[in-house]
Amino acid sequence: MSADTRASATLETDEVLALARRAGEVAAGVGRVILGKDDVIQACVVALLAGGHVVVEDYPGVGKTLLAKALARSLSCRFSRIQFTPDLLPSDVTGVSVFDQKTGSFAFRPGPVFANVILADEINRSSPKTQASLLESMEERQVTIDNVTHLIDPPFMVIATQNPIEYEGTYPLPEAQLDRFMMRLSLGYPSAAAEAEILEAQTTHDPLAALEPVLDAAEVLALQEAVSRVRVAETLREYVVDLLTATRQSKDVYLGASPRAGIALVRAAKAQALLRGREFVVPQDLKDLAVRVLGHRIILSPDARVHRLHEDEVVERLLDLVPAPRT
Ligand SMILES: Nc1ncnc2c1ncn2[C@@H]1O[C@H](COP(=O)(O)OP(=O)(O)OP(=O)(O)O)[C@@H](O)[C@H]1O
Ligand SMILES: [Mg+2]
Repeated sequence: MSADTRASATLETDEVLALARRAGEVAAGVGRVILGKDDVIQACVVALLAGGHVVVEDYPGVGKTLLAKALARSLSCRFSRIQFTPDLLPSDVTGVSVFDQKTGSFAFRPGPVFANVILADEINRSSPKTQASLLESMEERQVTIDNVTHLIDPPFMVIATQNPIEYEGTYPLPEAQLDRFMMRLSLGYPSAAAEAEILEAQTTHDPLAALEPVLDAAEVLALQEAVSRVRVAETLREYVVDLLTATRQSKDVYLGASPRAGIALVRAAKAQALLRGREFVVPQDLKDLAVRVLGHRIILSPDARVHRLHEDEVVERLLDLVPAPRT
C-alpha cells in the first residue's frame, strides 16, 4: 500500500481498539507512579499521540518532573533531560560544531535536544536566548548550525516544566513562545486519599524504577499515523472555528487564539478519540481539551487581568457560551 492510500484509508474498529489498548497501557503505567492525576496523564498521552509538546506549569513538589520521567520511562526511546539554569547556553541545548584536527573539517556534535522525549526542566530559569533555541527546534524539528540543517528524528516530544510562583530572576515564557506547546497542563495538589497513598508509595519503594517500557519509537509513530486517519465531521470543524472566533471577540481577551491553536485542538481531539477507542471525534473530545490547548494561547484584556481572571476560566466560559453540535 502506498503512503497516499494508507493516509486516506479509514481505520477499522478492531485496529482502533488494539491501538487504544497499547496507548492505554502507557497511561496506566504512568498512573502507577503519578497517583490521582489520571486526567492529566491522559492529556499527556494524547499530546504524545498527536505529536505535540507540553508545558507543565505548577507549584513546586506536585510531581511535574516525575510525570515527565514516568512518561519517558514508559517508552523505549531516547530520553534526555535538560536542566535549565541561568548559565545554560543555546549550544548546550542544540549542540555545537567542533573542529576535528585529523580530518581538518568541522563535525557536528548533537546536543540533548536530539532525543525522542526531552524533559526541559524549569525552562523559565534560562535566558530568553537559550529558551528560544529549544523552542525553535521544537517548532521546526531541526537544528541549523553553521548553515547546516540537522533533522531531529521523530517521535519528538518536549515536556517542559515551569514554576509559576518563582518570578525573581526567571524568564516566564511569553505567549508567543507558549504557542509552540500543544497543551499547558497543571497537576495541582492530590486529593487527600491520593496524597496518603503517595506518602506510603514514595517512602517504601521506588514506583518509577518499577515502570517498564510499553512502546518503542516505531509503535509511537504508528499510533501517530493512525491518529491522522481519525475522522472529524464538518460540523465539528465549524465548532472549532466558532470557538476560535469567540476567543477573538471576547471582551476578556486582548489577543485571541490563532489558526495554529485550532489545528492543535483538532489534532489533540483526534488523538483522544483514538485513545478512547473511536475512529471519529465527538464534540466532547474538543470540549475536554479546549482549556488545555487554548488557555495558554490567549492574552487577557487589561480589564480581565484586573479582575484576576485566569485564561483557563475564560476558555471555560466560552465553552459554555458557544453551542456545540450534537454529534
Ligand atoms: N500525584 C503524585 N503522585 C505521586 N507522587 C507525587 C505526586 N505529587 C508529588 N509526588 C511526589 O512528590 C515529589 C516531588 O515531585 P517532583 O520532583 O516531580 O515535583 P516538581 O513539581 O517537579 O517540583 P519542582 O517544581 O520543585 O521541581 C516526588 O517525590 C513525587 O514522588
Ligand atoms: Mg521539578
